[in-house]
Amino acid sequence: MKALILSGGKGTRLRPLTYTTAKQLVPVANKPILGYVLGHIRDAGIKDVGVIISPETGNEVRSYIGSGKQWGIKVTYILQSEPAGLAHAVKTARDFLGDDDFIMYLGDNLLHHGVKDAIKEFNRQSPDALIFLKEVDNPQQFGVAKLDRKGNVVKLIEKPAKPPSNFALVGVYIFTERIHDAIAGIKPSFRGELEITDAIQKLISMGCKVKSEILSGWWLDTGKKDDLLQANTIVLDEYIKRQIKGSVDSRSQVNGRVTVEKGASVINSIVRGPVIIGKGSMIKDSFIGPFTSIGDNVTLLGSSVEHSVILNNAFLSGVERLEDSIVGKNTRVIKNSIRHKALRLMLGDDSTVEV
Ligand code: TTP
Repeated sequence: MKALILSGGKGTRLRPLTYTTAKQLVPVANKPILGYVLGHIRDAGIKDVGVIISPETGNEVRSYIGSGKQWGIKVTYILQSEPAGLAHAVKTARDFLGDDDFIMYLGDNLLHHGVKDAIKEFNRQSPDALIFLKEVDNPQQFGVAKLDRKGNVVKLIEKPAKPPSNFALVGVYIFTERIHDAIAGIKPSFRGELEITDAIQKLISMGCKVKSEILSGWWLDTGKKDDLLQANTIVLDEYIKRQIKGSVDSRSQVNGRVTVEKGASVINSIVRGPVIIGKGSMIKDSFIGPFTSIGDNVTLLGSSVEHSVILNNAFLSGVERLEDSIVGKNTRVIKNSIRHKALRLMLGDDSTVEV
């Protein structure tokens, strides 16, 4: 079995971060999302991996993954000239995929238990396609499946106004080569994309066996700000261990599961885990509350931060209380002295500031 990781797309919902970074490389607990995806592919024993890249962010994705040696996989990069849909990405990868079965994994999705069991299930049932579902509260915002009593998928609907169930389609799919015939038979949707839901629907109408599995464990789609913060919270909660490799002075308190990476220093500050503080960062006269990821070479002076993601090289000074926030690379957030009540901002396009 091969793997196809989708790492192209536009990432409009995560702007402005995605003006300068591929969506799949945005870090969760200081590790790019794509790093978790590649780990899951490796753990499932798949060696032959195609990665869909876009002209805009392809080079950045390439320089992160390289040859794939770090994960023990062989990577083939496939350039998708425009983000014309998930089924279009499969079409673009046709030569790489050949007639092999393959698992398709959206590069901005994270699955709690990886994909090893998913592949086992596919091999056990040997359907023409296996999709994964998760019960959600807001099915209107997802692709939704209608199932018969045996768990066969009878219908898929993209973002339905009246959902037939609460089962949303998760960003992992396993296909046989039959999917290529189905894709050849569909047309772009009203939003101009070749939709994978339409292709799966086509498989069903071709009489193919499309099975579904309800996913156990969490599934995170990191496409928007709140989703990214939620992913950061869950991943920190799950994986962060207490590891102090940097320095903590005697006036500081570091409580619970906190990772302080090499070269980082905590001075006269309080840190309450789960928290990760990246290499070379300096935390001085500050408070860091639970569920916060501080990137590399960040400076925090006299500030308080909680439930937030602060990316590399950011500089925060005198920020009294920052919560539920994402601060991009090289960003400076500085509190004016008391005499100046006015806000002075230098914000990129599509920024959001709540004051
Ligand atoms: P989406 O999140 O559906 O699309 P997007 O990246 O264009 O984001 P937005 O809606 O915020 O503009 O894509 C899911 C994943 O699939 C994501 O990792 C990007 C990737 N993708 C491709 O590789 N090619 C494509 O044509 C599309 C639409 C997405």
